[in-house]
Amino acid sequence: MSNILEVKDLKVAYGAIQAIKGMSFHIKQGEMVALIGANGAGKTTTLKTLAGMLRPAAGEILYQGRPLSSIKNYDLVRHGLALVPEGRGIFSRLTVTENLEMGAYSRTDDKAAIQADMDRMFNIFPRLKERAKQLAGTLSGGEQQMLAISRALMSRPKLLLLDEPSMGLAPIIVQKIFETIREVAKEGVTLLLVEQNAKLALQTCQRAYVMDGGKITLEGEAQKLLHDEAVQKAYLGE
Ligand SMILES: Nc1ncnc2c1ncn2[C@@H]1O[C@H](COP(=O)(O)OP(=O)(O)OP(=O)(O)O)[C@@H](O)[C@H]1O
Ligand SMILES: [Mg+2]
Repeated sequence: MSNILEVKDLKVAYGAIQAIKGMSFHIKQGEMVALIGANGAGKTTTLKTLAGMLRPAAGEILYQGRPLSSIKNYDLVRHGLALVPEGRGIFSRLTVTENLEMGAYSRTDDKAAIQADMDRMFNIFPRLKERAKQLAGTLSGGEQQMLAISRALMSRPKLLLLDEPSMGLAPIIVQKIFETIREVAKEGVTLLLVEQNAKLALQTCQRAYVMDGGKITLEGEAQKLLHDEAVQKAYLGE
C-alpha cells in the first residue's frame, strides 16, 4: 500500500518555542496509526500542522504524494483531510443539523447523498437525531464529541485526524466513539489517532508512534508497544 502521508524532518515553532524538533513518520493508505505521548509532547501541534493551521519551520509533508503546502488551506477538506480538534471545535450557536451541514460544505455531490450521510450519522448516534434541532453549545461533552466526529465524517474524509476523542468522556461513551472509529476505518478511511488513553489507542490501532519533547522516541506495531516494558511504565501505568 502506498503512503497517504509522509512527514520528513518536520519542525514547528511557536515564536521562540520549538514544539516539533525534527519528526519523521508515515501513514499508509487505510492504516490506523496512533500518536501517543505525555502532555506537551507536541501531538496537537503535529495534527494542527497537518490540518494546515500551523506552518512548518522546516521539513516536508507529502499528502497523497504531493506537498501539503501546494494545497490551499480552505481546500484541504475537499482533498479529504479532516481534523476533529482537541476540545471539539463545533459551532455552538448552530444546531446539530446545521453543524452536520457545515461538515459537508466542500462536497459537490448532490443533496440526496449528503442527506443519506446525515441519516447515517443519526443512525450511528441516535442521541444526535433526538437533538437535531438543539443548539450544539447545549449538548453534553459526549454528545459534542459525537457531533464533532460526525461533522468530520460528513466531509467524506480520506485521512481523518482525531485529537483526544476520549477526553473527558464516560467509559460507555468512549466505547461507543471507538466502535465508530473502528467502523469508519473498516470503510477505508485512514486514521491518525492522538490519545492520552494510550492503552485504548494501542488496542485500536495497527501501528503507533510515541512522542516526547517534540520528537518521536519509539515506533512500531501497536501490539508490540502494548507489551513493551518502557511503554508500559511510562504510558500505560503498569
Ligand atoms: N500557541 C502556543 N504558543 C506557544 N507554545 C505553545 C502553543 N501551543 C502549544 N505550545 C507548546 O508546544 C508544546 C507542544 O504542545 P502540544 O499542544 O502540541 O502538546 P500535546 O502533545 O498535544 O499535549 P497534551 O497531551 O497536553 O494535549 C508544549 O510545550 C506547549 O506548551
Ligand atoms: Mg494535545
